[in-house]
Amino acid sequence: MSKLSNEALDAERKQVTVLFADVMGSMDLAEQHDPEEWRKIMQRFFSILADAVTEFEGTVDKFTGDGIMAVFGAPVAYEDHARRACYAALRMLDDVAEYAAELRREEGLNFSVRVGANSGEVVAGAIGDAAGGDYTAIGHTVGLAQRMEALAEPGKAYLTESTAALAEGFLELEDLGEFGIKGASRPVRVFELAGVGKARSRLDLSRQRGFSRFVGRGEEMGALEAALARAQAGAGGVIGVAAEPGAGKSRLCHEFAQRCREAELEVFEAQAQAYGQSIPFMPVLQMLRAYFGIGEREAARATRERIAGRTLLLDPGFADDLPLLFDFLGVPDPDRPPPQISGEARQRALRGIVCRLTSSPARRHTIVIVVEDLHWIDEGSEAMLADLVEAIGGTPTLLVVNYRPEYEPAWAGAPSYRGISLAPLGPADTREMLRDIAGEDPSLDGLEEPIHERAAGNPFFVEEIVRELAETGRLQGERGGYRLAGPVEGARVPASVQAILAARIDRLDPADKQLLQVASVIGKEFGERALRLSAGLEAEELNPHLCALTDAGFLYEAELYPERLLAFRHPLTREVVYGTQLGERRAATHAAVARATIELESSARLDELAALVAHHWEEGGETLEAARWFARAAHWAGHSRPQDALRLWQRVTELADRLEENEETAALGVISRLLQLDYAWRLGMDRALADSLAAEAGEIAARIGDLRSQALLQLLTAARPGVAHHARDWVESALRAVALADEAGDPDLRVGVRCAAAYALTCAGEMERVVAMIDEMLALTGGDPAVGAGIVIGSPLAWGPMEKSLALKELGRLDEAEASVDEALRLAAEHGDPETENWSRGAKSTLLCDRGEVEAGVALARRNRELTERLGDVFSRSMALNSLAYAEVAAGEGEAGLAAIELSDRLYREAMGGGGEGEAWRSTLKARALLALGRIEEAIAEAEWAADTSRARGMLWQLPTALHTLAQARAAAGAAGVEEALDEAVAVCRRHGHALALERIEAERPSLTGARA
Ligand SMILES: Nc1ncnc2c1ncn2[C@@H]1O[C@H](COP(=O)(O)OP(=O)(O)O)[C@@H](O)[C@H]1O
Ligand SMILES: [Mg+2]
Repeated sequence: MSKLSNEALDAERKQVTVLFADVMGSMDLAEQHDPEEWRKIMQRFFSILADAVTEFEGTVDKFTGDGIMAVFGAPVAYEDHARRACYAALRMLDDVAEYAAELRREEGLNFSVRVGANSGEVVAGAIGDAAGGDYTAIGHTVGLAQRMEALAEPGKAYLTESTAALAEGFLELEDLGEFGIKGASRPVRVFELAGVGKARSRLDLSRQRGFSRFVGRGEEMGALEAALARAQAGAGGVIGVAAEPGAGKSRLCHEFAQRCREAELEVFEAQAQAYGQSIPFMPVLQMLRAYFGIGEREAARATRERIAGRTLLLDPGFADDLPLLFDFLGVPDPDRPPPQISGEARQRALRGIVCRLTSSPARRHTIVIVVEDLHWIDEGSEAMLADLVEAIGGTPTLLVVNYRPEYEPAWAGAPSYRGISLAPLGPADTREMLRDIAGEDPSLDGLEEPIHERAAGNPFFVEEIVRELAETGRLQGERGGYRLAGPVEGARVPASVQAILAARIDRLDPADKQLLQVASVIGKEFGERALRLSAGLEAEELNPHLCALTDAGFLYEAELYPERLLAFRHPLTREVVYGTQLGERRAATHAAVARATIELESSARLDELAALVAHHWEEGGETLEAARWFARAAHWAGHSRPQDALRLWQRVTELADRLEENEETAALGVISRLLQLDYAWRLGMDRALADSLAAEAGEIAARIGDLRSQALLQLLTAARPGVAHHARDWVESALRAVALADEAGDPDLRVGVRCAAAYALTCAGEMERVVAMIDEMLALTGGDPAVGAGIVIGSPLAWGPMEKSLALKELGRLDEAEASVDEALRLAAEHGDPETENWSRGAKSTLLCDRGEVEAGVALARRNRELTERLGDVFSRSMALNSLAYAEVAAGEGEAGLAAIELSDRLYREAMGGGGEGEAWRSTLKARALLALGRIEEAIAEAEWAADTSRARGMLWQLPTALHTLAQARAAAGAAGVEEALDEAVAVCRRHGHALALERIEAERPSLTGARA
């Protein structure tokens, strides 16, 4: 059975305007008057207030002791909820004043009304017992509206700034300044409602604010002009412009009307109003007023003369129609009352008049009639338009109408009709518009893309988003000259846009709307199956709803193959739909989406989607699942996306800490902290943070007595790279970690810790032991690439041969070293371990240089450096720069070498807060670059530091090279100590079997010592 109900929805979050009105009367009233009379008076007041609310389609939420609370925009959202509330308030003030005057006159009583309104979010729904509860609105917004009422002076209506912002232009407002309001965290700006404003449509408002430059729409304008040309040739017709709200219908019609006026054509405009469906003939009246040029404050007599003049000139036969026309236009002739006919007959007669006015053969000049927003038109006006369409065929009249896609004109099949649908503005037009409103300050460079993404080519949304950004201080300066002063992300949906979108959404069938809500939880784009499962529907149940939603323009088919993929046409619609749901319900949907995704996707895809699934679990309140899935995502991001992995492990820690401790959550808490530490040596991390992570992990591990965690902890705190201690201690810690891991018996860990130990041994210069450790490690994997993968190293199977090649090279076994590093490169690519791939390329480039293939070595080192930048972790970038420096110097490029090594050292120290185990090696490389540049004294000092540091920290790997460089520099300077340096280097090489360095040093010794002599 379908899980979507056809019942009205449960409670929802809604944007509404809440209005409070109360009647205040003479205090002594109750004493003077019979209670029965008193009751009658109050009833009359209540019905005046309630009628005003109903007239503008608000809902009376409740009767308070002496007044009412009304809501505009719930249960069904209205895009003009604030305006409706204001009109209702004005009506209340007028009607109450009238009745109060009567009471004063006849009964000597003094009454007045106060009104307060506020706009914002409420939770609206049935309260109490699910089925029988009353529908009501709850929230801070309500309280503030009531405060406005209490603040208002008798006979006045006060609005908060939120209502004022939405009603501005349409209503006349007087700014009363800021008020400290009980219950509001900051002062609230209050406005008095002073009357009806000048704007009739949103476009009027835009005009008042200053139009943005008109962009694009060349084709549509062309179509309008062609139709005009046909009308001018006597073949009049209708053009219908259809598009969603804000797409630019009114603006296009306005620009066209301007052109017509400039060509001295007569243009008459009218528009239907959202609140006008219950007020018959409003647009027709407007049109006729425009046609006869009737001003607001003209004497009735003058108006009648004008009407008579214009009609009779066209056709004397209109004489009989004049009484009706006068009456309709609000200027009845006292001498000639209109005929007493039924409402229907009257409408028919009026329609006839309009058609005859249009099609009268006496009229030769072209007229253009624009009627806007037909989707709001009342029935009477609609019928009249249909007649008009029929009548204009052979006349020089062009009728231009516009409406939203949900409206279908009854006469769409008429031969004289042509439809245009306005497409969203393209990126170039959007850009131009944005430049016009926001300006061209360089800080705005990043603005275009997010705005284009959210507004999706809707010019109104573009304008409103910019306004919202300016109002919230993210944009500073003046319109047309803004600067970006804050992040664009996290900006809310502008209230004006929210109101429009919410109103459209609420017109959907409840079941369609619920499906849209589920979709909004999944995301901007979603697969059909995921939607179906998340909504709990059968395949055949889904389709009708999806059709309704795509037809209504909320969704579109983004892809059909291999699976039907749907997307929200407007990203903002998704935000609004998402935001209307109550937290609890939305959470349940999030969990359903997580479940659906897991059910639908393959395990490989799920690795990729793990972070998304985790997000749904988290929003669904399933913290443990969320932690598990973030861990899966973190593993998957692994060493190829270290920043992401670090961030994801942080999430796991956060979530694990929120859960009650048991074996699993404790393990997650430990592992997530340890793996953050694992990234610390690659990416750098604040030392205090690293220490506290280690301490916390240690505490949990000790508490749950988990050997495996303790081994990891040992590994990552004392045996990881970057720890500032002596090589001897480092090796010892690593070996202790190996022992602990062996004791824990975890095969992955046994492999992982051996990688760490091998690296420590390498730095200590213990090359034979490196080879043995790696062989042992590789044997433990049994050739299975998964064993130990991702613990310290992405792919131990690839990393092993790389590290081994370094040792083999040092031991003078260059052919084996080369074969080994080539194998590493191959395996790293095969097992998808970009980090090891980078390190291997670096190792290979150095090896090539050592073998005399300098050109190839430099090329590889340069390429490696580029690729490593993409990987982005500091450790790898520094390593790649070291290899590059080595190769550049070997190629005689001292400057390039120096630049590379200085950058490497700076990057490393900045991120890690220390020099790490590689500091002496970087110093050696720097000495070599300086030497190549002939900066001998600096080279000597640098090489001395390198040698001292290597020696003092027991980092013997490159001590011979440091000493060799020192000897070279001293020789170049003709300084003393060449032989001592060489002798020490040779001793280290002999003791540790560094055959390569030994051979080189011995080969160069005669020339170095000879040079001195
Ligand atoms: N082609 C355009 N170039 C620049 N601004 C536009 C364009 N089309 C619309 N606008 C602006 O976008 C806003 C919304 O347009 P409007 O015509 O009122 O939309 P609609 O009538 O379709 O709801 C207005 O402020 C209008 O000036
Ligand atoms: Mg419009």
